[in-house]
Amino acid sequence: MDYSRQIRPILSNNCFKCHGPDEKERQAGLRLDLSETALKPADSGSTAIVPGRPGESELIARITATVADEVMPPPGSKKKLTPTEIELLRQWIQQGADYKLHWSYVKPQRPGFPQVHQMSWVRTGIDHFILQRLEQAGMKPAMGIAMGAIWLTACATTPPITSASPEPS
Ligand code: HEC
Repeated sequence: MDYSRQIRPILSNNCFKCHGPDEKERQAGLRLDLSETALKPADSGSTAIVPGRPGESELIARITATVADEVMPPPGSKKKLTPTEIELLRQWIQQGADYKLHWSYVKPQRPGFPQVHQMSWVRTGIDHFILQRLEQAGMKPAMGIAMGAIWLTACATTPPITSASPEPS
């Protein structure tokens, strides 16, 4: 079950207008776009989503309700879930209501720079990596020496990995 592809579009098209990020539009104190709020009791005290328990989830009760003043989305909103959408939501809750966004929807982030001690030496991003390597090898970068030279020194003092293949005796 993929939240970003299968579930979020259903909730977004049919529910977020009244149960989404917009505080002024929000109804019943229920916010469905975040797991932190969707899994907590709404103003009424009932909980929209109880992971693993669709039978106890108010969301399921509401989207399957037959009474006009209970069913969600409200008939006045001109929105209606298809039986397939209802079943997808039920299965999603049954399987734990995972809100994880697929990686392709998550804003890319630069990987962090490695932690180094001698920050005064660092001038550019790549210095972090060189310095980390030196610090791991117990070496200190000398001020004024070209970075490349330091890097070469670090490599030269490290035994090459390729000579490690053991000969059968
Ligand atoms: C046009 C606005 C609107 C839309 C769209 C809408 N709702 Fe609602 N919802 C309300 C209102 C108003 C209430 C409070 C009245 C009531 O309980 O019926 C409510 C109440 C609820 C409750 C009960 C909250 C509580 O108090 O325990 C749930 C669960 C719910 N909605 C789920 C949904 C779901 C799921 C969708 C989308 C499939 C949806 N709603 C779409 C307006 C909306």
